[in-house]
Amino acid sequence: TSAKLWGGRFTGETDPLMDAFNASIHFDKKMYEADIRGSQAYAKALSKKGIINNDECATLVDGLEKVLEEWQNNTFVIKPGDEDIHTANERRLGEFVGSVAGKLHTGRSRNDQVTTDLRIWAREEARKLLGYLKQLIAVAVERAEREIDVLMPGYTHLQRAQPIRWSHWLLSYAWSWQADAKRLEQIIDRLNVLPLGSGALAGNPFNIDRGFLAQELGFNGIIQNSLYGVSDRDYIAELLFWASMAMVHISRISEDLIIYSSGEFGFVTLADAYSTGSSLMPQKKNPDSLELLRGKSGRVFGQLSGFLMTYKGLPSTYNKDLQEDKEPLFDAVETLSGSLQITAGVLSTLTIHPQKMRQNLSIDMLATDLAEYLVRKGVPFRETHHIAGAAVRLAEERNTSMSALSLSDFKHLHTAFDNDIFEIWDFEKSVENRSSLGGTSKQTVIEQIRILRSWLAEH
Ligand code: ARG
Repeated sequence: TSAKLWGGRFTGETDPLMDAFNASIHFDKKMYEADIRGSQAYAKALSKKGIINNDECATLVDGLEKVLEEWQNNTFVIKPGDEDIHTANERRLGEFVGSVAGKLHTGRSRNDQVTTDLRIWAREEARKLLGYLKQLIAVAVERAEREIDVLMPGYTHLQRAQPIRWSHWLLSYAWSWQADAKRLEQIIDRLNVLPLGSGALAGNPFNIDRGFLAQELGFNGIIQNSLYGVSDRDYIAELLFWASMAMVHISRISEDLIIYSSGEFGFVTLADAYSTGSSLMPQKKNPDSLELLRGKSGRVFGQLSGFLMTYKGLPSTYNKDLQEDKEPLFDAVETLSGSLQITAGVLSTLTIHPQKMRQNLSIDMLATDLAEYLVRKGVPFRETHHIAGAAVRLAEERNTSMSALSLSDFKHLHTAFDNDIFEIWDFEKSVENRSSLGGTSKQTVIEQIRILRSWLAEH
């Protein structure tokens, strides 16, 4: 018979190419710790039911700890027969403790084992990502507070629209990141339920205490259907969607900053630490960090759609196709981990040029304020919009700025105009007028900072 763990019924050897094709150890070794913790808990659960005695249990738990140390010290040697992390750990355990290692897998299958490991791994990695997200939010909040007096042009359609605070722009992304963080917390909550004890598909025949297993492994619930337990990978899809959404936000702020750092805008300069030069043009300083962030988003979306394709056609329970769930997740987690940290680095070190932002504020960006001026004098907004439009046109025709129009010019457009009209040509005032909750006034930006800070403190 074959020497493989599952080799009992096999007489022929597998094609060596098939062995390599089948193997997942080169990527699923990432889950070595989750696999060992899962096995230690399972050994204890077996001893609670008298399937193994206390000495055997201690032998298995200690042996597994030795295997863990080898992984941690980088001394674990992967052998040719080690198909995946589960078989590798069990093989090594056997070398440490002898034949009792053969009792560990009683009632367990790699089908419930692999998804238990993956949930543990995903939970731990997601918590790290949550930490990076919070650091990123903290960077934005800190900067927003420090630079709250800086005004810049706000855009719609990438056309100059209305003056806003730089901090308001910055915080708009902090709110997206907070939504990402909340979404991730919910996903962690949903995925943190125990599949172990589902067996291969039909359940565990040794009345294993799954409540005990859940407690030992930090799960906050137990999957109640064994078929579902070994089959469900929704959590992978959710994490990949989460990662995609988070990358959309990172890609969008990158796009903003790439534009703002161009010579034409000149609002920001990236730190040298996050820029590179050109091999040909000595004057160039390129925003490579931001371009990579924008570019890597595509790769994460690909992992999401690729995984959904793999997942969608599978019949009930475990199918080997599911081995293809790991690489997309591992890659997305790695990409997000790098991207969140690099974004925080870029954002905390870039220099802003408030003068340049100011210079790009133009009086036409106050046309809305002009319309609102008349509204305050009792003229219906739909009319005032037209009148302000006429003022824009008049200034354009005269090749001048609206602020250069005279009171009689304005009176000509509408009799409600008065001497106080000249007070509206003030960007600061325009910004301060937007003081309803969520607006760009100083007070409402400070309020945003307060809310985000207290959320950060609670999480
Ligand atoms: N390496 C496999 C995976 O990643 C482990 C589960 C294998 N189970 C099986 N019945 N072949 O999905």
